[in-house]
Amino acid sequence: MTKKPSRDHFMLKEQYKVESEVFDRETLKSLAKLIKKGIISSVDFPISTGKEANVFRATSQNGEHVVIKIYKIETTPFFRREEYLEGDPRFEKIKNNSKDVIIAFARKEYKNLQICESAGVHAPKPFYVEKNVLVMSLIGDKDLPYPTMNTQGPRNADDLEILLQDIKKMYKAGLVHADLSEYNIILGEILYLIDFGQGVVTKHPNAEKFLERDVRNILNYFAKFGYKKDFDETIKWIRLK
Ligand SMILES: Nc1ncnc2c1ncn2[C@@H]1O[C@H](COP(=O)(O)OP(=O)(O)OP(=O)(O)O)[C@@H](O)[C@H]1O
Ligand SMILES: [Mg+2]
Repeated sequence: MTKKPSRDHFMLKEQYKVESEVFDRETLKSLAKLIKKGIISSVDFPISTGKEANVFRATSQNGEHVVIKIYKIETTPFFRREEYLEGDPRFEKIKNNSKDVIIAFARKEYKNLQICESAGVHAPKPFYVEKNVLVMSLIGDKDLPYPTMNTQGPRNADDLEILLQDIKKMYKAGLVHADLSEYNIILGEILYLIDFGQGVVTKHPNAEKFLERDVRNILNYFAKFGYKKDFDETIKWIRLK
């Protein structure tokens, strides 16, 4: 008589499915490398599962909690390459196949975070990048991430000032975020910018257009809560040396 598969059997199968979908072979190899190199010691739990990336809390070897962002090898649409990688002298030689493009996005986010760190922009500290996996500091209390601004709304006019100052600092350092919205801002004791994969250098042919879009998004969002600033004046102030 054949044994009926138990509930546990199905659960294990489901778990395996989830794990193998989240961690494809390439990602598993990168995680193994990060562990071997002593960058992380464990992957703890998912913080966010999105279309283009999954974000997890992890623990470093010295017990500190960090964040790993895993760019999905399979699903990121191709068109993103043209708009955000081409025209960026740092990434002009990337081959047009999806794996290399994804790896370039992870490396790009890492480099953009390095620029933020040296420019004093409030953003996660980049620790390491291994293929499609980026390791960075956790913006949160010791254990859990702080919420993003879309879930709470802005708190006061100072939030807007600090944000605009960060946009200006970035621009001065030669960087435009290019995907700025309330979804990519974390509300800590201060505001933090995240999600820099699409960030472009100011030499990029569309950099000015992206800057204007970023600023418009932010000003429109804050205006809904009664914090208003003139767009033309703000842009002029950001571009002022
Ligand atoms: N360093 C960090 N510290 C705390 N939370 C983070 C950090 N980085 C990302 N997160 C959380 O993970 C979420 C997704 O991260 P991010 O915005 O970088 O990915 P994404 O590119 O938007 O992913 P997708 O577009 O696939 O949804 C964020 O909204 C935020 O809640
Ligand atoms: Mg995001």
